[in-house]
Amino acid sequence: MVTEIAKSTEDVVQLLPQTRRLRALHTIIRDRDADRQDFVGYAGQIIRQLVEAGMELFPFESVDVETPVGQTYRGLRVSPRVCGVSIARAGESMETELSTIAPGVRIGKILIQRDKQTKLPHLYYSALPVDIASRHVLLLDPMLATGGTALAAIEVLVDAGVPEEHIVFVNVLSAPEGIRAVQNRYPHVRMVTSSIENGLNENAYMQPGIGDFGDRYFGTD
Ligand code: URA
Repeated sequence: MVTEIAKSTEDVVQLLPQTRRLRALHTIIRDRDADRQDFVGYAGQIIRQLVEAGMELFPFESVDVETPVGQTYRGLRVSPRVCGVSIARAGESMETELSTIAPGVRIGKILIQRDKQTKLPHLYYSALPVDIASRHVLLLDPMLATGGTALAAIEVLVDAGVPEEHIVFVNVLSAPEGIRAVQNRYPHVRMVTSSIENGLNENAYMQPGIGDFGDRYFGTD
């Protein structure tokens, strides 16, 4: 179950239920003194919940199985036409949980960095499943701050033929500024997050935030 927190026409941003367990996980990873092992382990537990919630938004197909006692269980399976796309580098931290939940899932990658001169996001690299236009895409980036990188990444997917409605953008933390930017440009892209932050500081870090997610996760700070 996810909670609907914002709606305009048909689009929604979904916030994970703010359980005490989720707040406890946030408390560990937001602590500036958290060591890397804890950061990676507990961030992984939040990412697991987010990926589960994101998958819930994809289509399911009916499938019957026979149980060991000879009964038919009328079940469901998530459509095989799903894939992940991570936004390097921080989004790579979400690949393990996606592969655990959906073994064998295809995972594309997009590398976008801000041009030092123009300050605009620049696409350096993308590798996507060849048939991505007919897939549902879980777009992975733990941080949605200004939305600049997010917009550039979604543009790559839309240019590759992915309908906006087939994109679910998954973040650990989201700033209202980034959410608005995505909703304004791509109103049919759905978003799943575990926290809506208060806003951004003058260096575009989220408040209260977590610092640089990629540095803390990969140990490069
Ligand atoms: N990227 C991060 O890693 N942290 C922020 O607060 C904003 C962008």
